[in-house]
Amino acid sequence: MRKVRKAVFPVAGLGTRFLPATKAIPKEMLTVVDRPVIQYVVDEAREAGIEHFIFVTGRNKAVIEDHFDVQFELYDTLSQRGKKEQLDRLVGMQPAPGQTSFTRQQVPLGLGHAVWCARDLVGDEPFALLLPDMIMRSWKSCLAGMVELYEHTGNNIIAVQECAPEEAHKYGIVGKGADTHTGFEITQMVEKPAKGTAPSNFYINGRYILQPEIFAILENQERGAGNEIQLTDAMIKLGKEQDLYGYHFRGETYDCGSPEGFVEANLSFALDRPDMRKTVIGVIDRLLSRPG
Ligand code: G1P
Repeated sequence: MRKVRKAVFPVAGLGTRFLPATKAIPKEMLTVVDRPVIQYVVDEAREAGIEHFIFVTGRNKAVIEDHFDVQFELYDTLSQRGKKEQLDRLVGMQPAPGQTSFTRQQVPLGLGHAVWCARDLVGDEPFALLLPDMIMRSWKSCLAGMVELYEHTGNNIIAVQECAPEEAHKYGIVGKGADTHTGFEITQMVEKPAKGTAPSNFYINGRYILQPEIFAILENQERGAGNEIQLTDAMIKLGKEQDLYGYHFRGETYDCGSPEGFVEANLSFALDRPDMRKTVIGVIDRLLSRPG
């Protein structure tokens, strides 16, 4: 079984659900407490043992590349001012030289196409895929749990969670079969099922471990839901050739591509911060007792 060393982050999305905030700023750079959303996702990958970070970017996303670069002037200024804690934090988050790659999805043809754009950078090895809209909170990260399952199965793994039935049409949905190890067999998959037709309420939450054979399938994948090239449709075909397991993630997931999910993420991560918790609770209490 080959180790999962690389992770792909599709960050080309336009962020239309978050306009006007995302007119000039990539949605992945919006901050949850004091870290941009993309940093949470990269940190999750690093924690799970990922060694190489591949970003599929687009126009107006150059600031993501800057964020993961060394900022000499800033580091130097922090050092001169004795701001060791801030400097150490930045340096600790910094990928090592050669650990990042960037390519562009030149036309917005969908998630499947974005993943296919990373084919040469991934090469012939399994890889993790992390959708940057989704950030998670749990005692063990979602991808770390998936890597453990992968070490048992050596196959394709898709993380899923339960959603309210009326939300199912927004996601990729899987049908659940027999339990295996810490995962389960996937009996079927459908991208954005029409309301009332979802095979279950297990939705694909944006974390995957995939074998490189997915790229040959994506190359010829016709358009699906939303007239886009859908990763889910390609995974259905992959599932006919290889095993594909569901990993039931039991932590919390916030969809930071939507204003509601983003606000919830900010509250949740702020409440987790020992230095902020008391203040935030005080603010919430005060706001809730505000008349009208
Ligand atoms: C994508 C996937 C979908 C998944 C979702 C999670 O959809 O295609 O299967 O459930 O991410 O966020 P998108 O949000 O890009 O429409």
